[in-house]
Amino acid sequence: MALIDWTDSMSVGVQLMDDHHKKLFDMFNRLHEAMKAGRGDVVIGNIMVELLEYTRYHFGEEEQMLQRIGYTQMEMHKGLHRKFISDLEGYDADVKKGMAVFAATQLLNSSVAWFRDHVMTIDKGYTELAKQHGV
Ligand SMILES: [Fe+2]
Ligand SMILES: [Fe+2]
Repeated sequence: MALIDWTDSMSVGVQLMDDHHKKLFDMFNRLHEAMKAGRGDVVIGNIMVELLEYTRYHFGEEEQMLQRIGYTQMEMHKGLHRKFISDLEGYDADVKKGMAVFAATQLLNSSVAWFRDHVMTIDKGYTELAKQHGV
């Protein structure tokens, strides 16, 4: 069973952003599977690096889109993204110290829920504005 499934109720109304969110959920699930299978530190570490890179990419794209449509809560939203990235960077640092399993456990225990809540509350907050701008 997957750790987290994307459902229609999580849609932010912007196809591209939904696609990014789905891809991140997939990565969380892959990490969870790798942990369950007891796969080596290297595999787990690689998934985490990929996750960090894709999260940076997604946040950058989302922020640019929000800038274009005149979103007014930019600083708040960017601050939340930054905090999440810094958490992931902390885990990445742990991976580099040879603590991939420990870091992945922490990540799965806290970051997945944070990310789902972020999509469900903060990201969904731009749905109407995006619709008004035909995004
Ligand atoms: Fe966001
Ligand atoms: Fe997002």
